[in-house]
Formats: sequence, C-alpha cells, structure tokens
Amino acid sequence: MRDATRKHIDVATRVVPEGSGSVGVAPSAEGRRTLVLDLTPRREDLEPIETASRDEIAALQLARLKRTLRHAYDNVAHYRAAFDAAGVAPDDLRTLSDLAKFPFTTKSDLRANYPFGMFATPRDSIARVHASSGTTGKPTVVGYTKADIETWSQVVARSIRAAGGRPGMKLHNAYGYGLFTGGLGLHYGAERLGLTTIPVSGGMTERQVQLIADFEPDIITVTPSYMLAILDEFRRQGRDPRATSLKVGIFGAEPWTDAMRAEIEQTFDMHAVDIYGLSEVIGPGVASECVETKDGLTVWEDHFYPEIVDPGTAKPLPDGETGELVLTTLTKEAMPVIRYRTRDLTRLLPGTARSMRRMARIAGRSDDMLIVRGVNLFPTQIEEQILKVAGLAPHYQIVLTREGRLDEVEVLVEMASTGTAEEARKSSAAELGRRIKGLIGITARITVTDIGAIERSQGKARRVIDQRPKT
Ligand code: DLL
Repeated sequence: MRDATRKHIDVATRVVPEGSGSVGVAPSAEGRRTLVLDLTPRREDLEPIETASRDEIAALQLARLKRTLRHAYDNVAHYRAAFDAAGVAPDDLRTLSDLAKFPFTTKSDLRANYPFGMFATPRDSIARVHASSGTTGKPTVVGYTKADIETWSQVVARSIRAAGGRPGMKLHNAYGYGLFTGGLGLHYGAERLGLTTIPVSGGMTERQVQLIADFEPDIITVTPSYMLAILDEFRRQGRDPRATSLKVGIFGAEPWTDAMRAEIEQTFDMHAVDIYGLSEVIGPGVASECVETKDGLTVWEDHFYPEIVDPGTAKPLPDGETGELVLTTLTKEAMPVIRYRTRDLTRLLPGTARSMRRMARIAGRSDDMLIVRGVNLFPTQIEEQILKVAGLAPHYQIVLTREGRLDEVEVLVEMASTGTAEEARKSSAAELGRRIKGLIGITARITVTDIGAIERSQGKARRVIDQRPKT
C-alpha cells in the first residue's frame, strides 16, 4: 500500500490511512484540486488533562497556584517584598479569583533583578538559561531546572501534536537556536513527541530550501515572516512550493493574520497554525492552535494561568473582552512568574477542540500600537489590507515620520511579480491607500517597491521604522 500520510497522493488511488485522520481532496478557490489532510489527533493520544472537565482543571490550577505563590514568596526576595508591600500573603489565595489581589510582575522587575535575582532555586540547580534581547538596555534572563525543561518539552510536544504532528514525522526547525527560546524550545518538544528533528536554525535561506527538498520534512517551524523569505527562495530556484513534502507549518514569535494564514496555506498547500509563548513565562508552547479547528490558541492552562486586564487601569476583564494578557506559571521551579504583564493584546474564549480556554490570535503588543494622528493602528491591520490587493506581496514596512507637527505614514510594500507595468503598480498602490483610509481611517503614502527591496527577516520581522523625533 502507498504511504497514506504522503501529501501528494493520486486522487484515483485515494486511501484512508490507518489510525488517525483521513485524506480528502477539496476543490480550491481557483477550481484546482487542493489536497486537504485531516491531521486531527486521536482522542486517545491526547494527555488526559487536555480533555478533563473544567472542574478538574480548576482544581489542579488552584492547588498548583497555591504552591507557586508559596514557592515564589519563600525563595525570591522580589516577590516577598512585592507581596508584603501589597499586604498579601500566599495563604490569602483561597479561590482562583483571589489571584487578582496579588501584585503584577513586569519586564522592569526582571531587569532590576538582572541577571539571576528572580531565580527561586539554588544556582547549581539551574540546568539552562535563555535570554530575550531587549530593544534597550539589558536582556531579560530566564532560568530552567531539569524539571522545567521537562515541562517545557511536554507543552511543546503537546503543541506539535495539536498542530498535526505524529511520532516518526520529520520536523524542519528554522527558529533560531541560541539564547532565543524558539529553536531549542521547539527542538526538545519535537524530540519528546518522537519526531525526527532537523535543527536548521534561522538563516542561510538557500540551504533551507535545499534541505526541505532533500530531507522531505512533514512539518516546518519558523516565524511567518521568515517563511515568506523561504518562499522567495523557492521561486528564485524555480521550485514549486506546492510540490514540497510539507504538511504543516507551526508559526509564531511575532504577530500574523488570518489573511497571511490563507496565503501561506494556499501557496504551500499545507496547514498553517499559530503557536504562542514568551521567554519570561517559558518560551514557545504557552498556547497553541489545534489543526482541526484553527480558531485561536488553546492555552495550556494546567501550566499557565491566564488573565486579561485593561492595559490602562490594570483591572481584570471578563472572558471575551480584549485586553492585555497576564500570565502566572503554575509549575515552574527555577523562575516562577506571578501575574506577568505580557503587553500582548488578546481575549479569552471558551475551549472547543480541548476543554482548556483559547486565546484569540494576538493583535499586537500594546507597546507596538502606533498612534497616528489620534488613530490607533497595529501593523497587522496593514498586513490584512495588503493581502487583499492583487499584485502586492506580503513584504511590508511602515515608516513613520513627522512633518512639522503632523505624523506621516508611509507603507512600503513589494509588488508580487517582476515586470509589473507602472500603471498596475499605481493602481495597486491606490487601492491599498483607499482600503487603509476606508477601513483603518488614516491617510498613508503607499510606495510599491521592486521585489527584494524590503529587508527580509531571518526571525522576527521589523515592521515599523519610527523616524519621528523623540520628544
Ligand atoms: O518569541 C517565543 C516563541 C518562539 C514563540 C517561537 C513562538 C514560537 P520572545 O522572544 O520572548 O519569545 O518573544 C515573546 O513575541 O510577548 C509576543 O509579543 C510575541 N509572540 C510570540 N508568539 C506570538 C504569536 C518568543 N503566535 C513575544 N503571535 C510575545 C503574536 C507572538 N505574537
């Protein structure tokens, strides 16, 4: 029998694979036949907690939260001082909602305790450190015990399985290896799930394409913006991106949109799912999308307790309302974090494919929100519009300048194909300008550039160049 998990399977000999999932063929928007692989994991392959009742999850959270608050208070001077100053003690937590009485932790608290002051276990118990590079000043350092690395591997393995990964599949990991948590985080999770892990890291784009062609991976893990750079290289080499072995891309570490998902899925004929995390909390694997629903990211609530607060007043908001995500770790040993203000804007939604709650795709970070002539703007809103205009490629940058007292916005965006006539460029630019004005409410100058004019990222893309004078 043919290998039924192969993506490109002869329609005439279509077969249903043994075990989980089935292979089907659906007509695409253009009337082509796009292969749709059902990679839904089997219920019995999930961890019991993924399908536990809400009561069971809440009971586990409460027990773990009590332990975490005690551990942080007893072992980290910062938490002891912060709890004392707020007049709360670990024993004051009797229900999950009591967590709101406890003080927040911010990035500046981590910086103030640089490098190891937030660690709650002895220095020689720390198996690994990672760090996130701040745009200014010192990096934020995070530490892991051996047990923390286990927990992390487990939540990443769970995320990969939710995305459609199975033991035996090959995973091409193009997240950067090093202090950044993306590379090693995905690596340990993939190995833990039993995949063949290919630790490519970011960069050397030509080689990325070669390795995808030669090693025939099933899964790629990479930032969405670097996936686009890899796509450029496929085209440059005259290779058909739809002809690869790839079945799933697991994209995260930066904001992206459903419009970009549709573009990537269509271009590569594969599933594209979202993965979220941040170094301060653990790294990738805090929340992840399920391939069968693609309706937001399931928060792995047995390890991370989510809250949403108003970014201005810090008041807790109910599920369903958009605000800043605040996370508390429930199982971390080396560096528990209590009510960490992520700056990421999202909302909590009830569970669908799993019993745990979901969070909506991150719209952006509160510190990335641009305020242009009084209008709030996230780069992802521009991305959505670009993807709706024929003739434009999703490579873009937003340049902010100030003329006199007024902010000016220029959107640099590449055309999709070479040799586009001047007229066509102009009409694409005009259409994008109209859309931005009509749907976002700002007047932007649109410059349609040649292919390759906009800097390519090998990790997180730099979407905004702010040239306004600092006041
Ligand atoms: O970016 C961890 C990660 C690696 C996540 C690989 C997913 C995949 P940091 O470098 O500490 O850690 O950056 C964390 O990146 O607060 C968000 O602002 C942003 N971010 C991460 N995942 C997403 C996502 C890693 N799926 C910061 N969508 C977070 C939007 C994301 N933004």
